[in-house]
Amino acid sequence: MSDVKTALIIGATRGIGRECALRLAQDGFDIVGTCRSNPERFSELETVIKSCGRKFDALAFDIADRKAAEDALCGFFGDGAPDVVVYNAGIRDDEIFAFMTPEQWDKVLNTNTGGFFNCIHPLIGNMISRKNGRIIVISSISGQTGQPGQVNYSASKAALLGAVKALAKEVARKKILVNAVTPGFIATDMTESMDLDQIKNLIPMRRTGTPREVAGAVSFLAGEDSSYITGQVIPVNGGLFIG
Ligand code: NAI
Repeated sequence: MSDVKTALIIGATRGIGRECALRLAQDGFDIVGTCRSNPERFSELETVIKSCGRKFDALAFDIADRKAAEDALCGFFGDGAPDVVVYNAGIRDDEIFAFMTPEQWDKVLNTNTGGFFNCIHPLIGNMISRKNGRIIVISSISGQTGQPGQVNYSASKAALLGAVKALAKEVARKKILVNAVTPGFIATDMTESMDLDQIKNLIPMRRTGTPREVAGAVSFLAGEDSSYITGQVIPVNGGLFIG
């Protein structure tokens, strides 16, 4: 049996998730990457990962669709489980709360927070049986501090921090470590529409972060050097919020 470990990256097509897939492949993991609907978008990433000598598999499902997530994940992993899960996929749909529609609230909560249940719950039983694993959740600085215009997104990301802490305590004695990473402002498609030049002045390091810098924290949490760390929140934010 191969002793190569497998990392499942939820939301791996671009931005932070893509960079996590690359970094973990460079760390020696085979990669299973998920996207919402279009696995062809993975062809370039697959080539790069294979050039690191690692395997790549793609799964397509909407994380807000409970049955689709369960079917895809159970169908692929069967009686097994990934060694590392990076729960990265997420959306924002910003609006001042007074003008926020019920649809905006539901969509963001059902995706970001509901997706955690939909993606982690089908796998946790087998991870517990194997008595090993890492779960790394990409939350956000907005979930720590609250961000005006993002009441839905901040709520969804704060909920993930509660889930991480509670699950960490439930599964620690089964040797499963559960931690969160909270990025600040990272230059990706998600932040493309924001005025990042203006935001930079608010950041003590006077620059936005890169997906690679978030992937570095994920690599640490997936590796041997973090073997006694669980239930923690690792900020990657250039000093914007110091808790
Ligand atoms: P992005 O928009 O570039 O990528 C998001 C990924 O999630 C994509 O791969 C997309 O396909 C996937 N995804 C979104 N909705 C999905 C759904 N319903 N089903 C399946 N997959 C879905 O975003 P970015 O910037 O790479 O963000 C990644 C994570 O980091 C997100 O959870 C985001 O909230 C979080 N984050 C990002 C920050 C930033 O400044 N870029 C700051 C703090 C947190």
